[in-house]
Amino acid sequence: MNRSKKIMAGIASVAMLAGVASVYANPADKASAEEPVIFSADFEDDECGFTRRGEAETLEVTDAAAHGGSKSLCVSTRAESWNGAQIALDGLIEAGQQYLVTAYAKTEWYSTLTLSMQYDNADGETQYGNVLSMSNEGSDWSAYENVKFSFPPGSTNMHLYFEASDALTKIYIDDFTISNLPDVEIEDLTPLRSYYTDAFKIGTALTPSDLASKPFMKLVDKHFSGSITVGNELKPDYVLNKKSSLAYYEETGDDTNPQVSLAAARSVLDYCLENNIPVRGHTLVWHSQTPDWFFKEGYADDGEWVSKEKMTQRMENYIKNVMETLEKEYPDLNIYAWDVVNEAWEDNGSPRQAGSNNVQSGQSAWVKVYGDNSFIDYAFKFARKYAPEGTLLYYNDYNEYIDGKTNAIIEMAERLKEQGLIDGIGMQSHLDVGFPSAAQYKNALKKFAATGLDIQVTELDITTADTNAAGFEKQAQVYSDIFDAIYEYKDSISAVIFWGVTDDASWRANQTPLIFDSEYKAKPAFYSIIDGLEPTDPPVTTPSVTTAPAETTPQETTPLETTTPSETTAPSETTPVETTEPDSKGSYGDLNSDGVVDLSDLSLLSLHLLKEETLSDDILKYADVDGNESINLSDLARMRQYISKRIDSLGPKK
Ligand code: GLA
Repeated sequence: MNRSKKIMAGIASVAMLAGVASVYANPADKASAEEPVIFSADFEDDECGFTRRGEAETLEVTDAAAHGGSKSLCVSTRAESWNGAQIALDGLIEAGQQYLVTAYAKTEWYSTLTLSMQYDNADGETQYGNVLSMSNEGSDWSAYENVKFSFPPGSTNMHLYFEASDALTKIYIDDFTISNLPDVEIEDLTPLRSYYTDAFKIGTALTPSDLASKPFMKLVDKHFSGSITVGNELKPDYVLNKKSSLAYYEETGDDTNPQVSLAAARSVLDYCLENNIPVRGHTLVWHSQTPDWFFKEGYADDGEWVSKEKMTQRMENYIKNVMETLEKEYPDLNIYAWDVVNEAWEDNGSPRQAGSNNVQSGQSAWVKVYGDNSFIDYAFKFARKYAPEGTLLYYNDYNEYIDGKTNAIIEMAERLKEQGLIDGIGMQSHLDVGFPSAAQYKNALKKFAATGLDIQVTELDITTADTNAAGFEKQAQVYSDIFDAIYEYKDSISAVIFWGVTDDASWRANQTPLIFDSEYKAKPAFYSIIDGLEPTDPPVTTPSVTTAPAETTPQETTPLETTTPSETTAPSETTPVETTEPDSKGSYGDLNSDGVVDLSDLSLLSLHLLKEETLSDDILKYADVDGNESINLSDLARMRQYISKRIDSLGPKK
């Protein structure tokens, strides 16, 4: 698992080096139905509107090769790997919508042959992305059949094109069609999140390409709208803007103030804002998907590594700029959580190897500059300083159930907790049916819960190499076992986020790790994680509403049949803080009247402020925790400070 993850990260880095900012396509997925064709080119008579990409190429219809009919389009006299044939799509398709492309192509001799896309984004910057790469031996046609693709909203100058890694081979293209994707109805299932209203938010990661698929988004709306993580576009490589950072440096002589842009994240953030969905920010400080120039003198890719002192200034300004830009551009968006640091510890509990992640994936430029993992404390310090009050701050990692790493995370988390700098631990949970066992996973949950910090399952997916019925049954069993463990620790867990929705759009698509298939149908794993549970009706996105006072209490939920009561480290015994200022009826901050002030109360108040829940006046009087006779964000902030033990009482000052 770990190895394939790092390979993926490596590919992402190489793509960035090549100037590829975004890949907005899903892997090939055979569509069963005949789809309405928007554009078709058989190249029997002419080039059908295709043009060359560079100056060198010659495009002509040829009978030297044909997939269907007797002719194809031949691109010869190429000089660069990006040379090829393109079709302009403005006027034919709409940006932000998903389509299917089918095409057949071959080379003259062995080469990687790639169907790619080019467009100008909403900020007018030209972007490139690979739709589907295949190896071609030069003999048979490669089939690019029913490949889903979309351009981000606001794109112009949209093109699809073929290119080949070998700069000199001819490329032949034939039977190229673009069709509309049918608007598939999704199954009439009870929302997944409504089975867990008493426990935690259910959410998913989301990328701009997902937004282009209507059926995909119907699944998101219905099942996963408790929390959305921006899948890629809030990572440093998307947010850091080299051009404006250099311009700022030139203008001011200050190279410690990296400039940021939310352009790539905008479509997902807009969706969350419009639909009132709480957002997890992911991620501020990471070794991967972070460009080298950020760590180099003068922001030059080949510059010297900067000093620790300068990097700390850059880190502070970066985090400040991200928070300020979000606040300015999205004042009403609820970014309730941030992964402040991602993946800083090796499985054995030591820091990563120092180095450039673009040279050897897995190496950390942070460690290169700092010499150790001391950058983590700075990151949390700056995140706490600049994130809006009430934002929950997490450390996030994979293989978090391997002892060496579990212990390193706990030691770090305890230290940060002492200083009030961390709120929780993110367990990525990229699992496989064979590893880890549910018992091993539960052991990590138990240890993390004992810290008294919140836990979020941040990137859940469980791969299976066997993609037949038996494999999916086994996968369902493992999902069920893992959910049993998670449910047992529900008092310490505020969200369970899947890393995607449908298998075909997963980063590990060929091992089908998710709970919906490429036809948008629920897999056995979906049914296994609701088995024995009763949904709460109507479904709401809040955890713990079942413990709310009578007026707002929806119908009771039934816990998982297999759930056993938690043992001595049960989160409910370690996490909550005793309530203060009790009066005859209730206590400040204890909005669900369960005798403690904890994240459930925080969540109720935040839903009230977001207007997702209406709390009765009887409850609201306990929400005025700053005693200024109005209920607003400052009450939320005080409650959070109280829960993280930074203040020791709530309510009007006496
Ligand atoms: C890690 C990161 C995620 C994502 C996955 C792979 O888990 O935290 O952001 O990149 O790898 O998709």
